[in-house]
Amino acid sequence: MKKINIFEPTFRKKEILEEIEVCLDKGWTGLGFKTLEFESRWNEYTGLPHSHFLSSNTVGLHLALKVFKDLEGWKDGDEIITTPLTFISTNHSILYENLSPVFADVNEYLSLDPSSVEKLITKRTKAVMFVGIGGNPGNLDLIKEICLKYDLKLILDAAHMSGTYVNGKNKVEHVGSEADVTIFSFQAVKNLPTADSGMICFKSPAHDRLCRKLSWLGIDKDTFSRTGNEGSYKWKYDVPHIGYKYHGNSIMAAIGLVQLKYLDEDNDIRGQISQKYESELKGLDALDLVSMSNYCHKSSRHLFQIIIKESKSINRDFVIDRLYEKSIFPGVHYIDNTTYPMYKQYYGTCPRAHSYSNRIISLPLHLGLKDEDTSYVISTLKDIFDNHV
Ligand SMILES: Cc1ncc(COP(=O)(O)O)c(C=O)c1O
Repeated sequence: MKKINIFEPTFRKKEILEEIEVCLDKGWTGLGFKTLEFESRWNEYTGLPHSHFLSSNTVGLHLALKVFKDLEGWKDGDEIITTPLTFISTNHSILYENLSPVFADVNEYLSLDPSSVEKLITKRTKAVMFVGIGGNPGNLDLIKEICLKYDLKLILDAAHMSGTYVNGKNKVEHVGSEADVTIFSFQAVKNLPTADSGMICFKSPAHDRLCRKLSWLGIDKDTFSRTGNEGSYKWKYDVPHIGYKYHGNSIMAAIGLVQLKYLDEDNDIRGQISQKYESELKGLDALDLVSMSNYCHKSSRHLFQIIIKESKSINRDFVIDRLYEKSIFPGVHYIDNTTYPMYKQYYGTCPRAHSYSNRIISLPLHLGLKDEDTSYVISTLKDIFDNHV
């Protein structure tokens, strides 16, 4: 039986290999060259002022907190309001910097609920970490207003949001300009798949400058820019910081440059698949769907999530097991992070997130799905509900 997986990346093989060949011919596969080209294409595509290419979104989340801590005078134990319904990278990054995660609850968009966030603000709160689950910007606009009101930094984990457009004040724009820093993921199954990489986009040039140094071990000049300079002292650099080896490389950037050309049309296909799921599953007694907020102009549609209704006797894990039997392999995004040992002291603080965490399922969503595949997923789900609810 054909396997229907939750994710499968699509790579434009011929074009990607040509772009990689350029790197190999030049003899430059590392930091610089294609990474710089990708950064300027990403600036053009998103309209964001500074983009720095990294080896992953996870390292970008760490750098975001490190840069703010260093330049804004944050102290160990200062608080970052965050969500428990996310991939663990989001919250680990807070712990990497000895900061304290404070978990706020989520709303119907599965992302931070503004009223829950506002109640948790204290003198030690320094930032809000927002995650646009599945590409849905939720109430990011309202969270931004709260951050402005209380002078907090807004950190946007946009791992799922490449190609999400929002209804800005005067125009439709790519998501990200709301935040003081926005971090994208180009990991293998994201909307812009490379293999592993990410982009960090700071609002302020000073933050961007420090981040570039920290991502290259704290060295003040990268090898590519030194190579271009003729004359003496090409070999010389200074090391004003303890940094990390977090930067991206030209091979990943070469893949990213090709994939970026197709991002909007790929997301249109994701949108069409999502629309079909939505129209076929809407109104089913056993489940709820996640709606888009008014702030959303176009979602990247990284995920299509269904929520098994609380009142139903049927349980999420049972539904997933039945789908597995039919060769359909969905996912769960995500398990309430406070159920993990590292975060157990916060367990029970976010009842809505916890309840969703037990009831959500992400249906297969990728460019390789045929019409008959999505029809099969829909009819299988309906059969499960008909037979067991
Ligand atoms: C919400 C969220 N944040 C962060 C990450 C980490 O991204 P990366 O794998 O690029 O480090 C992911 C990846 O799955 C994610 O889904």
